[in-house]
Amino acid sequence: MKQSKDSEDLTRVGPGSVMGNFMRQYWIPAAKSSELEADGTPMRLLLLGEKLVAFRDSDGRPGVMDHMCPHRNASLVLGRNEEGGIRCIYHGWKFDVQGNCVDMPSVPPSQDFKDKVKAKAYPAVDRNGMLWVYMGERKVPPPLPMVEATLLGEGEVDISFMMRSCNWMQSLEGDIDTSHFGFLHVGHLDPGNVPEGHPLEHTATERAPEYHVRDTPWGTNYGAYRTVKPETTYWRFANYMFPFWTQTPQGEFPHNIQARAWVPLDDEHTMMIFWRRRSKKLGNTGAPLKDGKPLGGARPQPEFAPRDTGWLGRYKVVADESNDWTMDREAQRTNRIYSGIDHIGLQDQAVTESMGAITDHSHEHLGPGDLMIARTRRRALQAARAFASGTPAPGIDQPEVMMGARSGYFEEHQSVEWQQAYDEHMKQADRVLKPAAAGAEAAMAK
Ligand code: FES
Ligand SMILES: [Fe+2]
Repeated sequence: MKQSKDSEDLTRVGPGSVMGNFMRQYWIPAAKSSELEADGTPMRLLLLGEKLVAFRDSDGRPGVMDHMCPHRNASLVLGRNEEGGIRCIYHGWKFDVQGNCVDMPSVPPSQDFKDKVKAKAYPAVDRNGMLWVYMGERKVPPPLPMVEATLLGEGEVDISFMMRSCNWMQSLEGDIDTSHFGFLHVGHLDPGNVPEGHPLEHTATERAPEYHVRDTPWGTNYGAYRTVKPETTYWRFANYMFPFWTQTPQGEFPHNIQARAWVPLDDEHTMMIFWRRRSKKLGNTGAPLKDGKPLGGARPQPEFAPRDTGWLGRYKVVADESNDWTMDREAQRTNRIYSGIDHIGLQDQAVTESMGAITDHSHEHLGPGDLMIARTRRRALQAARAFASGTPAPGIDQPEVMMGARSGYFEEHQSVEWQQAYDEHMKQADRVLKPAAAGAEAAMAK
């Protein structure tokens, strides 16, 4: 399939690609810290098309490096995670977490050249239960990102992973595509069955909302609006944040501290990582409807496939093209579940994977409901190209700009203009860190 230059630059993430170089400027969430144990089994890690080995040394320090041993390319994933480093099982060379060769036992001491050999290692750190990797070229990496949900301590947040078999951008676009919600997820919902105050109250009655879109320092932002009572507007806000983050509106705006990273494993596979604050104050989409039952198609967990040690072996689900994403055609026919697929995330997974691994943008016909997607593609592509010609990647050295992003819903008097409504509700929102403190912390981290 021939892609336009724009599509190609937007979707490809390997070393040397426009988007790949841009993404490498940012710290990348890669794994749960708990996936690596000190002196435990090394793990295959695929990130931005690079095959890496991840392990934790005896002191608990994470190591992330090219999986191929610099001697003769045997995989260090097979290596022995020994005291203070990983040892290749082929000829016994040993590397510390910084990639230094610390032992070369297959070479006579008089000819030892371990000081001249280095594995390609990337800086890696743990924060709040997440392993972060920096794959850029700076000698001193930038400060860690300040996406607010990732600043919540362990115990304050639920973090879930799910692998998707398609390109990162088409995966991400599902989160900023407000007009699919009323069909894919709640097309079967009878508006008369929704109690007042239920999170689905307004999305079920008005399935073609209008919305505004704008560029922001962190990326893009939309506000979808509906008139729900005399003089009252119901707003749903959502965000794209550089380079691969989203925030979706399913939660009450002041309390809704959440974020999703759509981390490219390679051009055709993406790891979704979802942080959601633990809070009783968040709206629960699965709360009972008037008939006492929850929304159909909203089971809490998809079925995960057994984990294996391959490059794509982590957080796979059973649902895929070979089983029509576990679609129940009877449920679809009878409209018990509009899509026939029982799990909201799987419904998204099915439609985006069904487009093909890297979809053909020239085949599309974008409508007014796709304004946010078009704007976000353009914004991401422009930022990546600007970086290629020397402009710093946005938010790298001012990570606190990401803290300006919040998603969720609220009601407001119709006379309040949309950006003002956002700013006012932001002032009253729960914050993990006050924005001023965030700026100070970021400055210290430099
Ligand atoms: S290939 Fe690793 S030590 Fe020889
Ligand atoms: Fe969705």
